[in-house]
Amino acid sequence: MTPIEDILINKKTTNVPIWLMRQAGRYLPEFKQIRKLNPNFVNLCLDKKLSSEITLQPLQRFELDAAIIFSDILMLPYGLNQKVEFKKDFGPQLGPLNLDEISIINEIDFIEKLYPIYKSIKKVSESNLIKNKNLIGFVGAPWTLLVYMINKHSPKQELKKDFFKDEFLINKTLIILEKFLKLHIDQQIKNGATVIQIFDSWAGLLEKKDLPSYIYIPTLNLVNYVKSLNTPVICFPRGIKDYKNYCDIVKPDAVNIDYNVNPTSICKEIKIPVQGGLDPKVLLTDTQNLKKETLKYLNIFKDHPYIFNLGHGVLPETDPEMVDYLVKTVKDY
Ligand code: CP3
Repeated sequence: MTPIEDILINKKTTNVPIWLMRQAGRYLPEFKQIRKLNPNFVNLCLDKKLSSEITLQPLQRFELDAAIIFSDILMLPYGLNQKVEFKKDFGPQLGPLNLDEISIINEIDFIEKLYPIYKSIKKVSESNLIKNKNLIGFVGAPWTLLVYMINKHSPKQELKKDFFKDEFLINKTLIILEKFLKLHIDQQIKNGATVIQIFDSWAGLLEKKDLPSYIYIPTLNLVNYVKSLNTPVICFPRGIKDYKNYCDIVKPDAVNIDYNVNPTSICKEIKIPVQGGLDPKVLLTDTQNLKKETLKYLNIFKDHPYIFNLGHGVLPETDPEMVDYLVKTVKDY
């Protein structure tokens, strides 16, 4: 059992493991160097040598308990032949969503298009650096992918008024997403991913009445699928107002919380293992404050199965020394 499996499976409350969302990324000079030479982000994700190297970079520096494969949730729409680009200082930009086109994709073509990602996972899983640690595969939740595929770029605070206008397109797309998300999960596990995290970054945009159709049911189908492959699954429904109800219905092996929820109430209400919570902006302050905030989470969850992580990804302006300090604080606890 790895330290993370001890929490997810054995529900241990000692030796808190740690990994960080976006741990392989733009705050690391060694990543920036590679990124500078590779202006096309999609191609970088599809370069098995570089993407496996980037995945392992944070493990070379810090005593982390997992690697998360360097890829993106939007590689799935890319695999469905929707155009996906990452623009500097803007973020992702998708091309038109054509139902006829995404309906004719078959499994073999999809796997072939994303093949380098699976080979990269395989390479990482064979590395000595991952021994007794987990390799986290991931997908975007159907709802968050739908948001990107229809909206074409990150929504600001809310959805466009006409987002739900084409009900036929939405329902068909969700069916296609479920099929290919399962395939993408299956391929990641077959090639060495030992935990799956489902990112629902835009869960907070929905009204309560829409949660069953767009979040609870589609995510539950995926969670049950991952469980059927004997692999633990962590869900991150960022910004969802009612984490308890989500956990009661979707039943992941652990839930990642965002930094806007009160960790004390979560600890009382939620019985399954919890991950994350610390505001990534705390890493931009000083070591004294970082220690204080880190100990706050560690103390609140000291009798609860808990995996240390953030309430969202590491910010690009983070000093790697602060990440080192955070990891050491958790390990010394
Ligand atoms: O270290 C890791 O966590 C693994 C790699 C990873 C990336 N994206 C690499 C990436 C993971 C797990 C993701 C998930 C992802 N991608 C999410 C869910 C998590 C979240 O942040 O809410 C979402 C919504 C996306 C879509 C996406 N990709 C956006 C909105 C952006 C631009 C803004 C940003 O945060 O960078 C990306 C680009 C992206 N994905 C980068 C990286 C390292 C930056 C690319 C660059 O160097 O310009």
